[in-house]
Amino acid sequence: MRIGVIGTGYVGLVTGTCFANLGNYVICADNNKKKIDALLKGKVPIYEPGLDELVVHNTKQKRLTFTTSIKKVVEKSDIIFIAVGTPSKKNGDADLSFVGAVAKQIAKYLTKYRIIVEKSTVPVKTGEWVKSTIERFARKNVKFDVASNPEFLREGTAIKDFLNPDRIVIGVSSKRAENMLKKLYAPLKSPILVTDVKSAEIIKHASNSFLATKISFINAVSNICEKVGADILKVAEGMGMDKRIGRQFLSAGLGFGGSCFPKDVDAFISISKKLGYDFDLLEEVRRVNARQIELFVSKIKSNLINLKDKTVGLLGLAFKPETDDMREAPSLKVIDWLKKQKIKVKVFDPKAMPKSKDLLKGVKFCKDTYELAKGCDCLLVITEWNEFKQLDLVRIKRLMKRNLIIDGRNIFDSVNLKNIGFKYISTGRGR
Ligand code: UDX
Repeated sequence: MRIGVIGTGYVGLVTGTCFANLGNYVICADNNKKKIDALLKGKVPIYEPGLDELVVHNTKQKRLTFTTSIKKVVEKSDIIFIAVGTPSKKNGDADLSFVGAVAKQIAKYLTKYRIIVEKSTVPVKTGEWVKSTIERFARKNVKFDVASNPEFLREGTAIKDFLNPDRIVIGVSSKRAENMLKKLYAPLKSPILVTDVKSAEIIKHASNSFLATKISFINAVSNICEKVGADILKVAEGMGMDKRIGRQFLSAGLGFGGSCFPKDVDAFISISKKLGYDFDLLEEVRRVNARQIELFVSKIKSNLINLKDKTVGLLGLAFKPETDDMREAPSLKVIDWLKKQKIKVKVFDPKAMPKSKDLLKGVKFCKDTYELAKGCDCLLVITEWNEFKQLDLVRIKRLMKRNLIIDGRNIFDSVNLKNIGFKYISTGRGR
């Protein structure tokens, strides 16, 4: 099939590349010329396992191409995905200005039937608005459909998630659009749920908000565990064995960050309010999430005791492992606090350091974990990269000035660390 994708961020680039790899002809567009020039040379602007190879391979096979021209996308594609950013406004609303601008552009070049699909996460009723925008700006009598097809991929496992989704949600208002989208997704052999457009839009916001709620819930429970000396890992395991609950997204720690959960929870709260419903539950989810960082920071304060002339090292910067994404990363808030206390900050992350250099001034970027540990009074585990789980902790301890590790992701075995001689403070695993 002939597919167009507008926006080459995480979702757009992975979607376009994977559709090409399934044998479709795909044009990806972006208004960032530098990015498009780089992609045309096979240079992928983000770190996502496996993506470089797929982009290069499909470009060579001439199934995948990149452009800055929306006109070209509209002329050459039967199905056009809108995958531009929908960032948060200050008041929590989703900023739909990019979606609106793209809809107008599509309208301008529309001459025959096309399906325009919302892939970006958008508030309910955006489909209606996109439809009326296109109607307003397109020539008379040109036929089109607007559909919603939310994407559920996670950064770090994006390709795997795209190719093996638990479900594909297709929100449509015509049989023609339904059939074409079903045909496009048929090779994945995954369950397809067909709904109306508004229900599909809500499925995405509700799913992300529910997962965020799960994380805040377990974080709240971890604080109770800490107070009584219970073990949150065992508690989560015990809860997760109940099939109705499930173990996933029950890892306590520094809370959720990234480009989706914080933004989507805010947008869901905001759209609910506009529709006349106060989603207080989600307000609390946000509060619990913010408090996790405050509690983490208070552990640094109480365990370092005197903050003067102290050096602290951060293991990890990215908001989660297997990505270099720093959006809403808890590391930023922790570093902010450390700097306010005039504590010296050293950092190491396997992938996110190049992207962090502009964000983080006055911190020392280290080449590996051992350089990081040298002279530190305390190490903080911020991101649960696998390579941190394999550290030579005896060597780390020798290199450090003091023996304190505060673990925001529960990656170490507390007995092992105590045996080596560390003072180990974890999250929700007793005092
Ligand atoms: C999320 C959704 O999972 C995905 O379906 C959607 O398309 C985009 O948003 P992503 O942001 O890439 O994906 O990462 P995810 O693995 O879901 O983690 C989100 C945040 O929650 C991270 O900060 C992570 O550290 C945190 N998290 C996750 C926890 O704190 N505990 C958990 O148990 C799981």
